[in-house]
Amino acid sequence: GLAGHADYMGKEIEEQPETAARIIDRLAPSIADGSLWASLSVPAFERVAVLGCGTSLNAGRVIASAFGALGDVPNSSLIASEASTAIVEPRTLVIALSQSGETADVLRAIDDLDLGTSSLVALTNSDHSTLARRADSMLNCHAGPEIGVAATKTFVAQVITGVAMALSALAATRRIDRDYARRQVDDLRRIPDLLAHAIAASQKAIPPLIDEIRDAQGFLFLGRGSGVVYAAEGALKLKELTYRWAEHYPAGELKHGPLALVEAGTPVVVIDSGDRRIESNIAEVEARGGRVIRIGGAGSTVPALGLSLGTPMPGGIDRWGPLESVVPLQILARDLALALGRDVDKPRNLAKSVTVE
Ligand code: M6R
Repeated sequence: GLAGHADYMGKEIEEQPETAARIIDRLAPSIADGSLWASLSVPAFERVAVLGCGTSLNAGRVIASAFGALGDVPNSSLIASEASTAIVEPRTLVIALSQSGETADVLRAIDDLDLGTSSLVALTNSDHSTLARRADSMLNCHAGPEIGVAATKTFVAQVITGVAMALSALAATRRIDRDYARRQVDDLRRIPDLLAHAIAASQKAIPPLIDEIRDAQGFLFLGRGSGVVYAAEGALKLKELTYRWAEHYPAGELKHGPLALVEAGTPVVVIDSGDRRIESNIAEVEARGGRVIRIGGAGSTVPALGLSLGTPMPGGIDRWGPLESVVPLQILARDLALALGRDVDKPRNLAKSVTVE
């Protein structure tokens, strides 16, 4: 049941720190020694491709980049509904992500793809799903039941489980050493607190913004590097829940087109994942009177986000992005949707599990 919450989405947002802690506690002992990876019995791989739809695709994109940032593994992501003609090179680790494990576009993609010597791992929230049965091996993200149509805690659960798998795979195949893997696990262990902090800070910082953006018809979401996928996730949540137009862009693309959309009061949500060039993009928006809602970094609308970036990597590359920044994005979409009188658990036209192509 709702256990005192107004809706399932609100409940599921608040469950994220506990869900994350449970997953990390369970997986942590088997990451750095490679045993998590060994338990999946996956053959040697040279590259990684992830596929999924919607929020699961976004989680997959985070996981694919983690393979690249942590272990220099070439990686790509495929939109499941467009994947059937993709060429999968030999010795690719293919990871199919689906919370339900029943998404028709994902099942169709894995049927159509010629996997040859490549191996398919399913990352799902259901052991008994069709995807779990059809894959060579499977990893359950153990998010617990998610009732709201909007994927919230399953995103966090997929990212953590997928990053844990990536670390374990990289350690098992000696692309990273165990000490390095252990330090990454220490950083993963900070995530539950960062999520809890993000919830508390967002619940204070977001409601006062809602009046100001209530009548906005369009929203831009910008990020750079690892922030781009969080921008995508924020725009997806906003569209799905509020029925307002929202687009995401890599911030560097702003002046190549979308800047023309910005006028006085246009809400522009900027995810700061540590690339200093974001400052000039913010200045470009503010010069046109755009209303910047900054997530992370100095002057963040929601204070002290971006800490999960952890120890900076050489060249400023980060690993799984500012994961806790998804929280203010979820809360922004939910609060605005509620202010507009939307049903946040059952957005119009959408289903929790999309079993048609
Ligand atoms: O069950 P799946 O993870 O395969 O579902 C994929 C998408 O339909 C899903 O993530 C959708 O985008 C969410 N409603 C977004 O909040």
